[in-house]
Amino acid sequence: MATHKTRLAVFCSGGGSNFQAIFHAIPKKGLNAEIVLCLSNRSQCGAMEFARQNDIATVHLTEKQFGSFDEFAAAMVSCLREHRIDIVLLAGYMRKVPEAVVAAFADKMLNIHPALLPKFGGEGMYGINVHTAVLQAGESESGATVHLVNEEYDKGRILLQRRVPVLPGDTPELLAARVLECEHRLYPEALEKLLAEQHS
Ligand code: GAR
Repeated sequence: MATHKTRLAVFCSGGGSNFQAIFHAIPKKGLNAEIVLCLSNRSQCGAMEFARQNDIATVHLTEKQFGSFDEFAAAMVSCLREHRIDIVLLAGYMRKVPEAVVAAFADKMLNIHPALLPKFGGEGMYGINVHTAVLQAGESESGATVHLVNEEYDKGRILLQRRVPVLPGDTPELLAARVLECEHRLYPEALEKLLAEQHS
């Protein structure tokens, strides 16, 4: 019996290069999945533009649109249910996902983090801050981590991790670019692994 294509939602806040990498990797890897929704706290970001250009539904959702955080969380869950989402991929989503949403997608939500977790994770550790902290700590390597999302920030089960060297003369921006390139290969591999686990 043919199983239905796994329906993916991608949450983004910025350029969306990971989103694009996953979008292109799905047919290349022959994954039985499709991105059907892009959700963002920023209506005009690169990720939302890319989604519009590729006929992927977009939803702009922020706390400010609601009277309370609970209403915001409930709206996010309903939106994911409406679009019949199976798996949520956080790809440069710079907001904390409400606990109600994490609970509704237990073992079905992935995040990519631009460092070797459990190092350089947690509150405030996102985007360029991560790479600045890695350089300030004098690390000789960094990398990327894809993990399942649970109620503890950056602490869910690690699915895949890959190392990247820190090079002499690195700036946070240079290191960020090297890690990002690695992320573009790692995230599709992690998705493939999760899909295989879910169907085994
Ligand atoms: C990526 O480096 C991702 O790991 C990071 O933001 C960047 C998004 O780039 N995410 C975090 O820091 C989350 N804690 P993209 O929008 O081009 O995919």
